[in-house]
Amino acid sequence: MHREMAKGVYYVGVDDHHTELFENLWKIPFGVSYNSYLIVDEKTALIETVKDPWSKEWLDNIGEIIDPKDIDYIILNHMEPDHTSSLPDIAELAPNATLIFTERASDMQKSFYGLSLKEKVVEDLEELSLGNKTLKFVHTPFLHWPETMMTYIMEDEVLFSCDAFGTFGALNGKVFDDEIDMRMVESESRRYLSSIITTYFKFVQRGIAKIKDLGIGVKMVAPSHGPIFRKDPMWIVNKYDEWTHPELEKYVTIVYGSMYGFTHRLALKLKSELLKLGVEVKIHNISYTDMSTVLVDAVRPSVLVVGAPTYDAHPFPKIWTFANEVQGKRIPVKKVALFGTYGWGGGGVKKLQKMFEEMKFEILEPVIRVKARPSEEESQQIVALAKNIAEHVK
Ligand SMILES: Cc1cc2nc3c(=O)[nH]c(=O)nc-3n(C[C@H](O)[C@H](O)[C@H](O)COP(=O)(O)O)c2cc1C
Ligand SMILES: [Fe+2]
Ligand SMILES: [Fe+2]
Repeated sequence: MHREMAKGVYYVGVDDHHTELFENLWKIPFGVSYNSYLIVDEKTALIETVKDPWSKEWLDNIGEIIDPKDIDYIILNHMEPDHTSSLPDIAELAPNATLIFTERASDMQKSFYGLSLKEKVVEDLEELSLGNKTLKFVHTPFLHWPETMMTYIMEDEVLFSCDAFGTFGALNGKVFDDEIDMRMVESESRRYLSSIITTYFKFVQRGIAKIKDLGIGVKMVAPSHGPIFRKDPMWIVNKYDEWTHPELEKYVTIVYGSMYGFTHRLALKLKSELLKLGVEVKIHNISYTDMSTVLVDAVRPSVLVVGAPTYDAHPFPKIWTFANEVQGKRIPVKKVALFGTYGWGGGGVKKLQKMFEEMKFEILEPVIRVKARPSEEESQQIVALAKNIAEHVK
């Protein structure tokens, strides 16, 4: 299947309804799309490839429009294999094509695939004429990798933004924003952003500023995952801007684990104390909510609260994993509250505290460590912690 987006510009991407976890980490219950685009002019340019199990379907889509041997340029905005693992297949069919990418992508191509196609390394803002249409390449490092760029058709004002402005969820033939339920797009794009791009929030801000500074018109935003935005191209740009803005949101998120309920009860007590103080609370039991959904709420609260029982002298393993995500993702939150329970020697909360201190978080007092069932005094600590947290949300 293909769809025409503008005269001579086509969507030729594929849907993945098979992969359970994107990057083998994030649940994708609605699937995901790997978008690829074809521009047919005096010269023919292909933008991106797809993940290799979908290579055949993708080549069929291209074959509906042209003979792949006529492709002059293969533009690789980003080298991550969800966009490049079909490159060896198209390289066989289009041996005369020239790869177009940034210098760092050229190096990655050699180490990933070792193909000996012709190549053209493009500088930031370099232009390339295809005949009637002109492409402009905009370097956008760390959106999502250091080598990433965007490609823009100057005449049609279409921006191929790669991972930026992407959304989880397969398209099922509805490739444009005016064909899709936007409530779904809103929640799945935020989940995509939170799980994949949190580490690079600053680069999203920089990328958006760069596009705005170029003063170019954008009639269509065509990312490499999810719908193409043509009815309201700035909708997704504004959402990404809002979701990556340095200013935090006014709520508290509690993320906790519990095996037998002691830590769970502390979490609920803290929640109700916060609600009494008029604080908005989001709460996730780490064993039941997918990490991607936890992250949506955990990356931008005013205060993050983490609770864990001790498990083999460490924090409950799923919370330990969550803490590692927080570290790698360099979330913009800088205030954390900690609580937990233990059976004998403890150690879970202490290890969490050490880790958050190393990450330079401000740790809100009191840090609560309870031997199984809280005493009256310990229950009062929860009340005190709730008050302190509430002060930091205002
Ligand atoms: C598999 C397992 C390992 C545990 N390891 C420790 C430990 O190393 N040190 C400790 O003080 N308590 C340990 N405990 C006890 C729990 O930390 C304690 O019972 C805690 O209150 C459980 O909280 P929960 O009811 O929220 O699961 C362990 C419990 C289990 C089930
Ligand atoms: Fe990527
Ligand atoms: Fe991607």
